[in-house]
Amino acid sequence: MGGPDKKVIAEVERLRREIEEHNYRYFVLDAPTIPDAEYDRLMQRLRELEAAHPELITPDSPTQRVGATPAGEFRPVRHSRPMLSLDNAFSEEDVTAFGKRVADRLRANGVNVKEIPFVGEPKIDGAAVSLRYEEGKLVLGATRGDGTVGEDVTHNIRTIRGVPLRLRTRKPPAVLEVRGEVFMPKKAFEELNRRAAERGEKVFANPRNAAAGSLRQLDPSVTARRQLDVFFYGVGETEGWRLPGTQSGILEALQELGLKTSPDWELLDGIQGCLTYYDTIAKKRPDLPYDIDGVVYKVNDLEWQRVLGFVARAPRWAIAHKFPAQEELTIVRRVEFQVGRTGALTPVARLEPVFVGGVTVSNATLHNFDELRRKDVREGDYVIVRRAGDVIPEIVSVVLEKRPPDARIVELPTRCPVCGSEVQRLEGEAVARCVGGLSCAAQRKESLRHFASRRAMDIEGLGTELIDQLVESGLVKTPADLYALEVEQLQGLERMGEKSAKKLKDALEKSKQTTLAKFLYALGIREVGEATANTLAEHFGSLEALMDADETQLQEVPDVGPVVASRVRAFFQEPHNRQVIADLIARGVNWPVPVRPKASSHPFSGKTFVLTGTLSTMTRDEAKERLMSVGAKVTSSVTRNTDYVIVGENPGSKAAKASQLGVPCLSEEEWLHWMQNGR
Ligand code: IVH
Repeated sequence: MGGPDKKVIAEVERLRREIEEHNYRYFVLDAPTIPDAEYDRLMQRLRELEAAHPELITPDSPTQRVGATPAGEFRPVRHSRPMLSLDNAFSEEDVTAFGKRVADRLRANGVNVKEIPFVGEPKIDGAAVSLRYEEGKLVLGATRGDGTVGEDVTHNIRTIRGVPLRLRTRKPPAVLEVRGEVFMPKKAFEELNRRAAERGEKVFANPRNAAAGSLRQLDPSVTARRQLDVFFYGVGETEGWRLPGTQSGILEALQELGLKTSPDWELLDGIQGCLTYYDTIAKKRPDLPYDIDGVVYKVNDLEWQRVLGFVARAPRWAIAHKFPAQEELTIVRRVEFQVGRTGALTPVARLEPVFVGGVTVSNATLHNFDELRRKDVREGDYVIVRRAGDVIPEIVSVVLEKRPPDARIVELPTRCPVCGSEVQRLEGEAVARCVGGLSCAAQRKESLRHFASRRAMDIEGLGTELIDQLVESGLVKTPADLYALEVEQLQGLERMGEKSAKKLKDALEKSKQTTLAKFLYALGIREVGEATANTLAEHFGSLEALMDADETQLQEVPDVGPVVASRVRAFFQEPHNRQVIADLIARGVNWPVPVRPKASSHPFSGKTFVLTGTLSTMTRDEAKERLMSVGAKVTSSVTRNTDYVIVGENPGSKAAKASQLGVPCLSEEEWLHWMQNGR
């Protein structure tokens, strides 16, 4: 028989390259050089040859975009570099403040320039993805997920025609991970919804949901019909790739590799340049073929980005400047008061449902009683509702001309609507609170919800309804009670079989192993968010040390001022809280306590580490936390000052850099061994 001859092999390869080049011109450059019919002819010829010689078919052939349906669900993928989010700016003042923060911080680090160069990019309203190319071939496409772990949607990503299956280069990098936004063009979205409505099927609320929903289709042929598109705006892990020194350089390099970038990005001169860019894009917005919800400014110089670093999950070197939200007119049916975790009473307007900015809104927050009074919102009033991005909709103003004669004034309740305790409003405070504390079911529920949430104790499966039941049945009063629950008790609850009861019990068990920072955050101390919990944990190293700290000692912690210090102190002074903490620990809640009497005595104390690659037993953030807990520093790039590089799986170029500079590398195992036992 014999395989295909050399001529066929060569023709197949030539057709593929030709088709890829036309794809690039059509999808990436938006400047096709051949008519569609000619393109179709090339595809047809390739299909014929592949049909005659199936052994020549490769997964990266342009004919192979729609593959087989993967079995079952989407596989979770841990991102080798976290996918961050952005802080938002809603006004010129916010942007100016951002510019000042950037300039101040750079100056403090010895960078002195008059106008900082930024890159401005449209903020695409779609779904963030990370694509991994190895040796130039697309091997993985993942959703953002929670930023650390996303879902493997490779089979659907492949169907997006703007995504190259092979990078457009003869010398592909060993690894190139690119980040971008998958979106559905407005036209495709309207068409999709029109057809769905015709068939009496579910319509998507907005293009963003449509894009995200399409990426999560099990059948890739469905996704292929959805006409998704993509813009790339950044990189993740890279190996064997010369990383450009600037964001603009990255965008140019990506485009060159066949990875489509927004045609509307611009290099900007200082904050004034940013504000001008905002106006330009705002004017263009109605004419763009896709939805954008703002623009993003990024410090152009990557070295400066590194100097600026990150806060929690957002970089200090970038900000999203959002467009003003959409507004609509509707009627307030009633105003109710919700009781939050700290007892705060929040007035919430129940509205005549109205469609604003892509979703139906039937509730709007009034933030606090003062605001309700200031806006003079009455039951029965016509109001303007605004929805900004994903934040909770709010009432902008009352349309007084439309006020009906029987509109009812809303009074602040004197008793908590949930537990009947007194409602107190301290002098000078905008917030009114139920004084019931944890005897108030609403506060108990909210505290438990916070305690169980993902960024806190991460108790999987302990959702709102279950918490309601647990509190209402009296089974759970404090977070510590959760860990005393028996499977039999859980089984007695509504919609709880033996299997789910066991599962919850397992989840509770699993959550016991935590970190000090998460534990502190979970306690729900007022004014202690995630970032503060992190710094407190780092600074004090142990719960005992923190609990014993007085306000002066607390204020020695970076970013802790008098208010936070007094809240923390007051929390730990309260006997009830101390009891709950003792119970939690007695029931097995624990976190790694470094085997170190003092940070300074640990061999890693004062040493500088760099992490690269994927670790098998923890995330990079966890590794960082552990290193910092023994007094080590963690930086992001390898220099002569680096003491050790910890090398996980699929390490990036940093491992190579380390060996180049003679910096010792440790495997995860070696590092953990040294952590525990010293060198
Ligand atoms: S940069 C560290 N650039 O907005 C950089 N994000 O609010 C993080 N987005 O999750 C992202 N267009 O899904 C960046 N030009 C752009 C963007 C963009 C849309 C999305 C992205 C991200 C979210 C953050």
